[in-house]
Amino acid sequence: MIFFSMVVAMDLQRGIGKAGNLPWSFPGDMKYFKTLTTKTTTPRKQNVVMMGRKTWDSIPQEFRPLPNRINLVLTHKQYPDFPSPVLFADSLEKGLRLFQTSSYQEKIEDIFIIGGEEIFEVALKMPACKKLYITHIQHTFDCDTFFPHFEQQFKQNTTSKTLQENGIPYYFAEYQRHTNANLP
Ligand SMILES: NC(=O)c1ccc[n+]([C@@H]2O[C@H](COP(=O)([O-])OP(=O)(O)OC[C@H]3O[C@@H](n4cnc5c(N)ncnc54)[C@H](OP(=O)(O)O)[C@@H]3O)[C@@H](O)[C@H]2O)c1
Repeated sequence: MIFFSMVVAMDLQRGIGKAGNLPWSFPGDMKYFKTLTTKTTTPRKQNVVMMGRKTWDSIPQEFRPLPNRINLVLTHKQYPDFPSPVLFADSLEKGLRLFQTSSYQEKIEDIFIIGGEEIFEVALKMPACKKLYITHIQHTFDCDTFFPHFEQQFKQNTTSKTLQENGIPYYFAEYQRHTNANLP
């Protein structure tokens, strides 16, 4: 089994998006996201960022593909027109399987699923999803997309000190899946 983590910023109601975009702007959180998903312990390796097609669309053209990471977009479209070298797959399982092939095994370090709601929903149910990196924003925004309930299956490992931007506090937390969460 190939393991992966998920990275998300959510508000007090688990809200993550509004009208195809982020409802907030926190440069400190963007920096955290970039460092987390880019850094590797082996310099010749890269991390993978997997995302739904709508999340891909939400990234401004000049910032995508996300640099120094292998970008894979999930879509059911048969002939999507993502620029090279962006990868795509029509299911999460197929996307993950790609990185188990010998051509990628030597090249990749960690796999991060980065949204949005539809993808988080499917991925959270998979036992291969071992870790969550959550930015907890201490405010309620007007959102139309949400992160699923995760509290039962995951336990909190670490939490950062609270930061503040635009007068809104937020902090970073890491969660680990309970080892017996998926036993029958
Ligand atoms: N706060 C955060 O951390 C965060 C992170 C990421 C995104 N967001 C926000 O979340 C919102 C987007 O979320 P969303 O749920 O609307 O869209 P999404 O999950 O980003 O993308 C949905 C699309 O992904 C494809 N898809 C879905 N399930 C699939 C599967 N099992 N296999 C293959 N392809 C699949 C389909 O693409 P096709 O239609 O092309 O077939 C579907 O329309 C935006 O507002 C974005 O800003 C927030």
